[in-house]
Amino acid sequence: MKYMKAEPFRIKMVETVKKTTKAERQKWLIEAGYNAFKLKAENVYVDCLTDSGTSAMSNRQWAALMMGDESYAGCRSFYNLEESVQDVFGMPYVQPTHQGRAADYIMAKKIYCEPGKYAIGNMHFDTFRGNAEVLGAIPVDYVIDEGLNTGSAYHPFKGNIDLNKMQQLIDEKGADNVCVVIITVTCNNNGGQPVSMKNIREVSELAQKYNIPVVMDSARLAENAYFIQQREEGYQDKSIKEITKEMFSYCETATMSSKKDGLVNIGGLFVTRNNDIYIQANQLAIVHEGFITYGGMSGRDMEALAVGLQEGCDEQYLEYRINQVKYLGDRLKEKGVPIIEPTGGHGVYVDGRRFFPQIPQHEFPSQRLVVALYEEAGVRAVELGACAFGSKDKETGEPIWPELETMRIALSRRVYTNSHLDVIAEALGDIYANRDQYKGMKLVYEGPITSLRHFTAGFELL
Ligand SMILES: Cc1ncc(COP(=O)(O)O)c(C=O)c1O
Repeated sequence: MKYMKAEPFRIKMVETVKKTTKAERQKWLIEAGYNAFKLKAENVYVDCLTDSGTSAMSNRQWAALMMGDESYAGCRSFYNLEESVQDVFGMPYVQPTHQGRAADYIMAKKIYCEPGKYAIGNMHFDTFRGNAEVLGAIPVDYVIDEGLNTGSAYHPFKGNIDLNKMQQLIDEKGADNVCVVIITVTCNNNGGQPVSMKNIREVSELAQKYNIPVVMDSARLAENAYFIQQREEGYQDKSIKEITKEMFSYCETATMSSKKDGLVNIGGLFVTRNNDIYIQANQLAIVHEGFITYGGMSGRDMEALAVGLQEGCDEQYLEYRINQVKYLGDRLKEKGVPIIEPTGGHGVYVDGRRFFPQIPQHEFPSQRLVVALYEEAGVRAVELGACAFGSKDKETGEPIWPELETMRIALSRRVYTNSHLDVIAEALGDIYANRDQYKGMKLVYEGPITSLRHFTAGFELL
């Protein structure tokens, strides 16, 4: 396979993207309150806002879609999905949901979260954080220190949980006050960084010692498994599905946003090995999602997911996927752009503070970079920094600024070619060369739930 370094697919259908002028983009930015979520997608040239629900489906998935059984109860499509999920997760009980956040909600509500109790994680994703905030549980992020170092200091598994911090919280607050440990694979918030099998195993052993349940937030389970295969001793000869099954063997329940490694545009999963938990999840699904055998998904979407999960675990696909992210990272490094290294599974994260050292965190350097990238090249990325991760002191209301301050360039699966990535690298390289000319931004609107404010925030340029 010496020469076969290109994409492991060919393109059969295309979607036109619009080229726009800088003056047009400046007008659209003002209309959007400088919030990339409020831009119209048709005005975006290369869309790297998210890798969620943006995958291109394969011919097999489109064919499977036509086989959808839309019966209310007991549809064939559910059983096809169940079989595919069992094959990847190695767990018996499968409850579909309409998206990952619905699985988060079911997992948090009554089952794993209690008001006033702690939910330990590497870095909790914002939809779980929002659910926890509403329910009154306290999410704490215990990723290892290396995971917060955006510099080039190499660590193969920057998504690992710090066992000492976990032990310390259990000692200080008592195990009864810790309701759950959630391991997010890969760790979205710090660069799509993987979690090692050793860490998953040790976290699980520690949690088990104190009878604390372990849940895996597994949107990017296959990308995590690929990193384990490539980087962790003893896994080189294991298949991706052998690795995913071992990963899940250390947890009781998994939630999944299928919109990532499921290679579909919508869907979620709640998967468990515990029959009592499954029965509780079924009840919540019936109230909030739909009957047990569809849970908010149509039969055709379940068919596409059943196939997508298998394709997402294909090694040739994963090799291409992870290397495409690395390709963009390497192009940016050549231009001196400061990124989180090593690059992770689903995007490249640019360090906003190192990019714009003159812009203090309360003036949103990464958001400023998002705006500059769209303004210059029509490329849409997302801020994961002062706005998305900022919080407020519960008593004084004083802002608390996050340790990580980044702009994420998320790469959709099987969608863009490397020449689209060259556009991003060239534009960011030019902005970086002129970085001294930029000033910060002011937050002029935020919604009531702080952890979700980035979706609707409004800004002005300073
Ligand atoms: C790690 C993680 N968990 C949960 C979710 C929420 O999933 P969804 O967007 O399908 O509701 C996401 C979405 O980006 C995610 O990245």
